[in-house]
Amino acid sequence: MMIHEKFNKNNDITVFNGDCYELLKILPDSYCDLIIASPPYCMGKAYEDINDDIDTFKNQQSIIFNDLYRVLKEGGSICWQIGYHINHSEVIPLDYYVYQIFREGCKDLEIPLILRNRIIWTFGHGLNSSQRFSGRHETILWFTKGKSYDFNLDCVRIPQKYPGKRSYKGVNKGKLSGNPLGKNPSDVWDIPNVKANHVEKTLHPCQFPITLPRRLIRALTQEKGVILDPFMGVGSTGVASILENRRFIGAEIIEEYYQIAKSRIQESIDGNIRIRDDKPVNKPDVRTSVAKLPEEFKKVREGVKHEKKI
Ligand SMILES: C[S@@+](CC[C@H](N)C(=O)[O-])C[C@H]1O[C@@H](n2cnc3c(N)ncnc32)[C@H](O)[C@@H]1O
Repeated sequence: MMIHEKFNKNNDITVFNGDCYELLKILPDSYCDLIIASPPYCMGKAYEDINDDIDTFKNQQSIIFNDLYRVLKEGGSICWQIGYHINHSEVIPLDYYVYQIFREGCKDLEIPLILRNRIIWTFGHGLNSSQRFSGRHETILWFTKGKSYDFNLDCVRIPQKYPGKRSYKGVNKGKLSGNPLGKNPSDVWDIPNVKANHVEKTLHPCQFPITLPRRLIRALTQEKGVILDPFMGVGSTGVASILENRRFIGAEIIEEYYQIAKSRIQESIDGNIRIRDDKPVNKPDVRTSVAKLPEEFKKVREGVKHEKKI
């Protein structure tokens, strides 16, 4: 795999140092299988203009929408990761605006964007507030373009707390009640955010933990699918794409972040990237028999290709 700086439809990886609106304009229609991004929240981060406000945010989302929609394949997905805009202590949920803008943007189109999940990403660290409860979650809006779409649940199942649980009534009484491959990770994801001691930490103030885009990529695309991150920062979605054998296109406007993105993507091609694996949220208490993995489940798991759970 090679990293290219100019887009060509046969590239495996294209990273662009510049404005994503320019990159989007040259991408062909229906080219991408999945778009993942965390856009700027317009509240004074190091990479934002000091005068940006909630109206800037809304404008940016409206401007970008048509091209996002155009470059996405029918059956593809958009995952927009957003948090809150804080204005003089007032908390404004950004996904509220994104939902309206995206739905409004396709209201007259034949193939609508349909919201499939509003995923709560919860994490343990952040600012400690004294005037309200400390914020420990953000959201991911997952839309599909059209009614049918890829969803590879078995690739992202997570361990059950009690895999040995059995049905206690009905026709399945006495039989194991869970799925042998693990449980659906649900729409609440407990994934550590990238703070000072995290192995993935770079100088970017708001990078994704790699496991977050990685779970989306595994669940929503097939190998060799094309992933786009128009606000790629230090390239976490790019790294996740390479680790999952997908193709990647990203844009980053700030040269310093762009250079870090390029080196991290190169490290993932070379197999040297340091990542923090997703730890199971539930640590089974193996002192109880119901928390032990049943032999029947072990056999099924051995026969399944996708062994690397995230
Ligand atoms: C929230 S951060 C995304 C971080 C990224 N998810 C990561 O893991 O590193 C948003 C990024 O978008 C970049 N950005 C802002 N406006 C942009 C634009 N018009 N085109 C490309 N990148 C832009 C910012 O410099 C910032 O790095």
